[in-house]
Amino acid sequence: MAIKKSKTNKTKKVAKVEAKPAKTEKTTVVQNKPAKKKRATIKEEIKDYLAERNNKVFIGNWKMNMKFDDIKSYFDHFNTLLKKDKILSQMNNLIGIAPTAIGLLPVAGMVKNGVMPVAQFVHHAKQGSYTGCISYDQVHEYNINYAIVGHSETRKMFKLTENDINLVVKTLLENDMHPILCIGDTLEEYESKETEKSITRQLLNDLKGIHPELVKNVIIAYEPIWAIGRKAATVEQIQRMITFIRTTIEEMFDSKTAKETHVLYGGSVKVENAMDILKVKGLDGFIIGGDSLNPESFYEIIISSQEYARVNSIINAKKIAKANKKIE
Ligand code: PGA
Repeated sequence: MAIKKSKTNKTKKVAKVEAKPAKTEKTTVVQNKPAKKKRATIKEEIKDYLAERNNKVFIGNWKMNMKFDDIKSYFDHFNTLLKKDKILSQMNNLIGIAPTAIGLLPVAGMVKNGVMPVAQFVHHAKQGSYTGCISYDQVHEYNINYAIVGHSETRKMFKLTENDINLVVKTLLENDMHPILCIGDTLEEYESKETEKSITRQLLNDLKGIHPELVKNVIIAYEPIWAIGRKAATVEQIQRMITFIRTTIEEMFDSKTAKETHVLYGGSVKVENAMDILKVKGLDGFIIGGDSLNPESFYEIIISSQEYARVNSIINAKKIAKANKKIE
């Protein structure tokens, strides 16, 4: 389960991207040309990671925020916090940051400690006349292997159909990439008690025709639209939906797939509520919007899992045992 040690940021290419973009024409494409060699290793690490699944996933969705200098100071701070944390370094969480398209390469150049850059949106076509989009292939070229698919804001803005979402999910899986598929109910659906119906429809359409073997490479995020940027769903509501999603996956595919697929929650996750929500049975982590824009808050959320507390207590117990031995 070794996704952590991403080599993405170690390539020569990315190191160059890290530099503040020059204002002249010389910020060249050539300078950003990706090194292709390390891809296989990263893929292997991702497969191991997803196969084992005794870990948590934390995706910071930056939406349309953060300019270059903000990104730089963010990682100065965030990298220091992660580096200092000897507990976290022993865990196999997947931590990802999803910046804007223009922020992807600076982020890829600055992430350390296994943190992964994540695309917020990719087009399923390899290339072509799609003004305003970036293709999965352009992202993959830089060893960026994760992409959010079907965030409710993106679905609405680009008027994406469930068929469009299905095409992106399929394309990413066929290219050894990992879709972070967002599904969620609208306020109207929630109020008219149609949440389950809406989620079932989205799962059926978004994951249509996908081989069961590949489904576990999809990270599913339940993001009630009414909770995003407002007030989180309650622990009970989240528990009900996480269980419902797993049951639906089991009915669509099989129990092994339902067990192995990561299911996250997103929608106003904050430092204050993270620990309680993370106790939800079967929940594998979060997509965090607002609170991921602050490195301290994002870090606080990451370390609020029970697993973190458990590793901490194991380490402490070992230290005490060692100290006691010395005294004897
Ligand atoms: P929020 O956003 O945490 O700011 O509610 C979550 C999301 O939109 O993914």
